[in-house]
Amino acid sequence: MNTRYVILLLLTIISFNGFSITEDWGKTGHRVTGEIADSYLTKKAKRNITKLLKGQGLAFVSVYADEIKSDERYRKYGPWHYVNFDFDKKYGEDTPNERGDLVQGIQKCIEVLKSDTSSEEDKEFYLKMLIHFVGDLHQPLHVGRGEDKGGNDIQVRWFRDGSNLHRVWDSEMIDYYNMSYTELASNANELSTLQLEEIRKGEVLDWIYESQSLAKKVYASANVGEKLGYKYMYEHFPTVRSQLQKGGIRLAKILNDIFG
Ligand code: ADE
Ligand code: ZN
Ligand code: ZN
Repeated sequence: MNTRYVILLLLTIISFNGFSITEDWGKTGHRVTGEIADSYLTKKAKRNITKLLKGQGLAFVSVYADEIKSDERYRKYGPWHYVNFDFDKKYGEDTPNERGDLVQGIQKCIEVLKSDTSSEEDKEFYLKMLIHFVGDLHQPLHVGRGEDKGGNDIQVRWFRDGSNLHRVWDSEMIDYYNMSYTELASNANELSTLQLEEIRKGEVLDWIYESQSLAKKVYASANVGEKLGYKYMYEHFPTVRSQLQKGGIRLAKILNDIFG
């Protein structure tokens, strides 16, 4: 074997074992949340949003914030996709990351969108970012521990393949389910008025704490190196579906407040 072949082989092994660049809810997850949000928008909000997004839909733009990650001009937005703080403390008790985080990111987006002095260009950008970040907020491990990068450093097996706990929650379960985002959105759980009210209650920080409390359960759900598969899907995919649905309903609430 020549050296180039060995290096190629090593790189292939590494990329199959979960050492690749960290991601978010995969594309499908973000699109489900965007699609569900769309169905809860008021007519007025939908009109204003469609104008700002030049006809592109919420599902379509929901992955924009991930797409720009490879462009170094947008590097500063990297830490806005997640927030890590002590499980026994409230957000802000320890100094928040001065490079920004999910909470500050969402606040900034809302601020720009509500301001009369923001340019249309800025409003379009921060609207796309907001649609994405409200999705991220509902991935429990985006409100996980900093030490293991929200589970990215916890290696597990997903069926026969190497993966990590974060990736299982971002995309492995959703991809394994093998439904399109439109199918997942249209098959979301039916909710009573009371359930809808409960989901809409509160604000961004309350939803962050809810995700964090789910994150604790997620950490307890698997051991390092464990092989996860059918049983894990059965036990945890309902939480994924519910979080994607809550994300959509709450995103619509925020957007109706700004644009409705
Ligand atoms: N992605 C990269 N770093 C992360 C972290 N610390 N928490 C959650 N998601 C992440
Ligand atoms: Zn992620
Ligand atoms: Zn993200």
